[in-house]
Amino acid sequence: MKIIVTGGTGYIGSHTTVVLLQQGYDVVIVDNLCNSSVDVIDRITQITDRRPQFEKVDLSKETPTNNFFQQHQDAAGIIHFAALKAVGDSVKWPTRYYKNNLGSMVNILENMQQYSIGSLIFSSSCTVYGQPDKLPVTEDTPVQKAEAPYGNTKQINEEMIVDALAANEISNAISLRYFNPVGAHDSALIGELPLGVPTNLMPYITQTVIGLRQKVSVFGNDYDTEDGTAIRDYIHVVDLADAHLVALERLLKGQNADPYEVFNLGTGQGNSVLDVIKSFERSTGLKVPYEIVGRRAGDIEKIYADTQKAENILNWKTTRDLDQMTASAWAWEKHYREVIEKR
Ligand code: UD1
Repeated sequence: MKIIVTGGTGYIGSHTTVVLLQQGYDVVIVDNLCNSSVDVIDRITQITDRRPQFEKVDLSKETPTNNFFQQHQDAAGIIHFAALKAVGDSVKWPTRYYKNNLGSMVNILENMQQYSIGSLIFSSSCTVYGQPDKLPVTEDTPVQKAEAPYGNTKQINEEMIVDALAANEISNAISLRYFNPVGAHDSALIGELPLGVPTNLMPYITQTVIGLRQKVSVFGNDYDTEDGTAIRDYIHVVDLADAHLVALERLLKGQNADPYEVFNLGTGQGNSVLDVIKSFERSTGLKVPYEIVGRRAGDIEKIYADTQKAENILNWKTTRDLDQMTASAWAWEKHYREVIEKR
């Protein structure tokens, strides 16, 4: 059975492609490679012994997208990861973000309708909740006005899906609201690879320890948390990838209770920035040079998921802890710098 994975050479897309191939699905990756490398396909093949098909297409462009779908109209479902995702960049270049993230969704929905492709899994984010009043955050927590265009594109994308479903333009969709995905595949052949200076915590830590950056700036230790640093729900990317398979199969088997469902994907555990640094040091035996600096504009104090809905309905929960996340993120960084990058 053929599944289209948009953004399949990216961080979460590549891990999900591995899971799908290992489950016997045929995968067509569509990616414009604006933030990833085509070499990822070789490494996915190395892990799974199966090669996904690959098409280089910019999904925000109408004609190439239509051509792509015409060729792959036999797909049973789509998992849509392809998007621009840097919060700071989205503030600098909002129009680029809207054009890419919303334009792609318009084209995908049109083609799903045209070719009656039934199932869509959408990569959403806990960013839609802003700083919630009550923790942990359930899926019923009201969505708050986005702080940055990036978050706004996630909200609008969800609304576009809801409207397309209401009008029967498409038939089934699930939005997965990720908390903070980190870590890498056990093989250390795929992982997170930000272009330039990382903005997210885990790649900043691994790049610092490998010697590419001097030290980690911890953004603020005056939050109302145990150690004063901000709290997030870090989730291992392989657990996250597994959840995509479960959600997809729910739609493919027609087990969904409603045409549109939303699930939080997190561990339910909040960890502070210093917890992550301590975990890294514990799991690798290496020191993380860091300093406390001021808060980062736009950061929230704490957020973590209520995981009941995913556990009860998807029958999915995470199995990997923070030390496995930090250890695997480090194994990937090391393997990438010492072997893959030098090829
Ligand atoms: C951010 C985005 C979120 C997006 C996610 C994935 C915001 C407000 N949210 O999440 O919408 O889905 O990235 O791209 O930007 N930290 C440091 N030093 C660093 C980097 C981060 O102390 O060098 C801290 C941050 O202040 C935060 C935590 O580490 O408390 C996690 O930060 P990060 O990895 O950037 O993720 P979020 O900001 O939670």
